[in-house]
Amino acid sequence: MNQPKITEEIISANAKQTDGQGQVIEIIHSDVKPSHLNALRVRGGNRLKGDIKISGAKNAALKHMCAALLTDQPVQFTNMPVTLGDVRTMAELLDYLGMTVALRSDGVAMLHAKEIKTTIAPYDLVRKMRASVLVLGPLLARCGQADISMPGGCAIGTRPIDLHLMGFKAMGAEIELDGGYVKARAPKGLKGAHITFPFVSVGATENVMMAATLAEGITVLSNAAREPEIVDQGNALIAMGAKIEGLGTSEIRIEGVSSLNGATHACIPDRIETGTYMCAVGLAGGEVRLKNTRTDFLASLIGPLIGAGMEIKQDGNDVFVHRNGSHLKGIDIMTEPYPGFATDLQAQFMAMMTMCKGAGMITETVFENRFMHVPELCRMGADITVQGNSAIIRGVEKLKGAEVMATDLRASVALVLAGLVAEGETVVNRIYHLDRGYENIVEKLTGVGADIERVSER
Ligand code: EPZ
Repeated sequence: MNQPKITEEIISANAKQTDGQGQVIEIIHSDVKPSHLNALRVRGGNRLKGDIKISGAKNAALKHMCAALLTDQPVQFTNMPVTLGDVRTMAELLDYLGMTVALRSDGVAMLHAKEIKTTIAPYDLVRKMRASVLVLGPLLARCGQADISMPGGCAIGTRPIDLHLMGFKAMGAEIELDGGYVKARAPKGLKGAHITFPFVSVGATENVMMAATLAEGITVLSNAAREPEIVDQGNALIAMGAKIEGLGTSEIRIEGVSSLNGATHACIPDRIETGTYMCAVGLAGGEVRLKNTRTDFLASLIGPLIGAGMEIKQDGNDVFVHRNGSHLKGIDIMTEPYPGFATDLQAQFMAMMTMCKGAGMITETVFENRFMHVPELCRMGADITVQGNSAIIRGVEKLKGAEVMATDLRASVALVLAGLVAEGETVVNRIYHLDRGYENIVEKLTGVGADIERVSER
């Protein structure tokens, strides 16, 4: 079988044509127009059977791209979800800052920040994606300054960055808020510090850890986040020459070095995508092989799923997921920082609980407003009552297809999952939220027998 042609998308207008390592590459510039097919139509009732290849982790990939700002050497990441909206948004921001970004259709991202053209990240780019704030630490560490537009809140909460700024101040940076921008200055460089976060923050841990790799002396982060994506980010930084210990624990120790080198690093599989498709099987029934992923980073989900009646096991590099005929038993969960139940899987788990035998309770402790999928699920016939940051889900016999509205990334996919099992047709509008975080979701679900297609919004 002849090798599929590898296409490469040069995000950077100023990029030199990168070497496709001897393979034929076709350069298509990033003038991708937003698709007018901004809705999904799902017809429920099909059991799922077949293989789904899991993509690289969005919430690791975005940080890997920021880390490439820390060095003037080229850095290469493989297994990257290069078609995701958020990855393209990050690529555009990094290109604006002066980095050459090449995204290849085989999942290779080649990043080279030989020079930083500007240390200002403007509102019109930052407002599209909150993770843009993660260029602050690398720019401050490499250039001694950064002006970053404050990331807006989003549908799931206000999401301030006070912990990020607390960390940089502790390392000697001067921080000023002016005209909607965070203006950070460290003209004499950053100094190592012992920083204790009052509560766990993934982004603050990542931003400060990146900055600390080039600070003078030792930085200790206490009450640090322990997510697998942070471990992956730390391993990539170590490959670039950083000195980091304690990854995956709540105390991370970074010894600053004078500079970092280029490296090649494989992005970990996406554990939230993995968990999402596990919930899909839990809801629609069937048996699916999730390819190129793991179970060890999803214990907090897999325990409840097996307790509710599913079969889940690692098989080489794949995970086998099976739900026999009967619907799942109701079960209670509470979202917490890793290794607790992931808040990014809360909406999907709730969708699955709508058809459970009995009832389940879900408590959201990480974000203050992450139940926006509830009214939409209720419009499909679910029986859900919200009390503060808890929701009681009483299982119903069936869901009925309806026209529903996506509000954020994970709420969107929860509605798609509900559509897989609802009677009749469900149309999920505003699926640009989905395209930010799920690669080829229509193709992946169609490939295991779901009746789903993109349509234009009514
Ligand atoms: C990351 O967001 C993820 N995003 C989120 O995934 C995920 O839900 C979250 O971590 C928790 O696991 C990316 O990695 C790009 P936090 P982040 O800092 O870093 C508050 C998805 O669906 N907080 O751990 O923003 C904050 O408001 C997304 O893929 C402060 O108050 O999360 C929130 O309530 C959604 N001050 C809580 O802490 C700060 O300085 C946890 O936020 C920072 C955070």
